[in-house]
Amino acid sequence: MSPPKILVTRAVFPAVIARLEQHFEVESNQDDENWSRAQLIERLRDKDGAFTTGSERIDAAVLAACPSLKICANMAVGYNNFDIDAMTAAGVLATNAPGVLTETTADFGFALLMAAARRMAESEHYLRAGKWDKWRYDMFAGAEVHGSTLGILGMGRIGQGVARRGALGFGMKVVYHNRSRLDAALEAQCQATYVSKEELLMSADHVVLVLPYSHASHHAIGAAELALMKPTATLVNIARGGIVDDAALAAALRDKRIAAAGLDVFEGEPRVHPDLLSLPNVVLTPHIASATLPTRLAMANLAADNLIAFFSGKMPLTPLNAAQAAIK
Ligand code: GLV
Repeated sequence: MSPPKILVTRAVFPAVIARLEQHFEVESNQDDENWSRAQLIERLRDKDGAFTTGSERIDAAVLAACPSLKICANMAVGYNNFDIDAMTAAGVLATNAPGVLTETTADFGFALLMAAARRMAESEHYLRAGKWDKWRYDMFAGAEVHGSTLGILGMGRIGQGVARRGALGFGMKVVYHNRSRLDAALEAQCQATYVSKEELLMSADHVVLVLPYSHASHHAIGAAELALMKPTATLVNIARGGIVDDAALAAALRDKRIAAAGLDVFEGEPRVHPDLLSLPNVVLTPHIASATLPTRLAMANLAADNLIAFFSGKMPLTPLNAAQAAIK
């Protein structure tokens, strides 16, 4: 029997491609070309499985054009690029890559919080531009981080990681809001108190967004929510673009309605709202919160493990729709 055919949609570690090649006939995109949707479908048409990243949209139209597709393994914890309902209806299994990136991503969330609150990017640009000619008592004075109130919106694994860093490392008071409240043991571990979204926005000195993107979380932070925040507050988004209304955020930052922001994800990325690009009080990074080589390798290997398990007749490690889908 010939091996299953797999498409790897983006460049990944050569060692992971080599692993996949031990099990599958692999077509990969090691040149990392920007495939159009039509080019993606063209290549996926005859495949049994796909190794995807968060960038490729798998929806009803793609599925209809790829009748032999049985599984898409995302090398990302977020999976808003998957239309899970359409995949379930088509009998296509979806998997993501949770767990392995939790601590790395929480580290980065904290780094963005620190950089935004303590004005690191803005002051570094000033120094590089040769503008630093003397010390001044209030030069680049930022917001206190230790002992302040940290508000976390979305309290999954990464949110809990951010909470632990804040509470245990920086003596912060941690408040959180989530669709469901954590059990008492987890709340105690994170030293976090459950509050309403409004109370969180009004009381936090630093707000970190770590909730998944969905229709329900689209523009969860817009003009009305920003208006509730303290004028001294910082906002950090390590979740997904689209959770924040970037135009409203740029206006709030420009008018100093909040003090600063740290953003790793953007609406319509890799494009960034032009108003954000010209503002000094926002730290901008290109969706790299999970980007350390060991973590990215672990994510890629988990996606590969899911494909290998599935085609050996086993349940993948991190399925998203196994219970609902009548898998092909
Ligand atoms: C990164 O954004 C991920 O979802 O893994």
